[in-house]
Amino acid sequence: MSRKVKVLLAGAAFAADLHADAYSRIRDKAEIVAIVDKNIERVKELALRYGFTGYVPYSDIDEALEKTECDVVDICLPNFLHASVAIKALEKGFHVICEKPLATKVEDAVKIIETAERMGKKVYYAEDWLGSPALNKALELIEKGGIGELKFIRARECHSGSHSPFAQTIEYCGGGAMMHLGIHPVGFVLALKNNRWESLTALTSGGLEKNLMHKGMEGEDWSAALIRFEDGTTAVLEANFVTRGGMEDYIDFYGDQGCLHVDLTFSSALRGFSIPGFDYTVEKAELTTGWSRPAVDERYNLGYVSEIAHFVDCIQKNCDAKVGLRGIDGLEAVKVIHLIYKSAREGIHIKNEALGVR
Ligand SMILES: NC(=O)c1ccc[n+]([C@@H]2O[C@H](COP(=O)([O-])OP(=O)(O)OC[C@H]3O[C@@H](n4cnc5c(N)ncnc54)[C@H](O)[C@@H]3O)[C@@H](O)[C@H]2O)c1
Repeated sequence: MSRKVKVLLAGAAFAADLHADAYSRIRDKAEIVAIVDKNIERVKELALRYGFTGYVPYSDIDEALEKTECDVVDICLPNFLHASVAIKALEKGFHVICEKPLATKVEDAVKIIETAERMGKKVYYAEDWLGSPALNKALELIEKGGIGELKFIRARECHSGSHSPFAQTIEYCGGGAMMHLGIHPVGFVLALKNNRWESLTALTSGGLEKNLMHKGMEGEDWSAALIRFEDGTTAVLEANFVTRGGMEDYIDFYGDQGCLHVDLTFSSALRGFSIPGFDYTVEKAELTTGWSRPAVDERYNLGYVSEIAHFVDCIQKNCDAKVGLRGIDGLEAVKVIHLIYKSAREGIHIKNEALGVR
């Protein structure tokens, strides 16, 4: 396909803004032909922010899917809507880009993949960490032998709590911090090891009254998992909503000849001090006064820009995304998150039966 990729953007809030920014940087390759959000004002504001014109605004997802002629539906809606919207979009003959998690339940994620196969369409799973330039540079250095043989990975995404009302209940979110934030480190290490995980064990705070801070949240506000891979590499993955002061996205790689440390959020080239406060520093920063490190291009650093550019390129070539960004990778991440919850709930170490581990 040599013409521009036509996108129906589903959602017009936080995640949709991240994707809209990425599309706005590749106007020669992609165009937003429709935007849908039940809050129509958000649709108009989003389009205005990025100077999108010639798009059709919708407030009803079914009407948008019915009336829009596009190549791909980009799903930036709350987690519980991902599966139903993805399946409808695929059945209409559109490709799908889907924000994390692919679905709240494993069986729904399986249905998405089955529908895509039946319809001969692609599912692109938007795990932004795989688009992160710093993480990709780290992987390149590891690939070239810079830290010897990779032995151990420690990765986490943590902040003080989601802005979204849909993150508060299991029904809408699918879980707590591990589902909402931990899916990034989980998806990233699974991609690195081609989904060949062997066993895992986990602990979580447990939700509601058992939580460390968020007593009204059904899902857990603290969680950690240990994963061993088939090649012997181990990983410690963490996600929590008890981290004040801004979002921490930290990834450490340890090899037998060296190590690499990646800080996606607080490693800006800028460092400053402000008495009135800067207008913005980093995601979920609660204060911008005093000393801080304002991000230079946060969306680029976190991978959204490259991830969307990769998907547009794949759609033009009608090919799958790279490992970690395919629908089946989204399915594996949801499976692993639910096994992390099972391990924590039942106090058991879980082996990957799909690998034949007993
Ligand atoms: N990759 C990332 O780093 C990242 C960051 C934030 C959010 N996300 C994901 O993106 C998705 C959206 O998150 P968000 O933070 O933008 O959520 P949000 O709650 O801020 O916004 C959701 C939007 O969907 C709209 N909506 C809800 N139900 C609808 C319906 N039935 N029809 C049409 N519109 C409807 C709401 O009006 C709202 O504008 C979630 O799945 C979340 O996990 C990913």
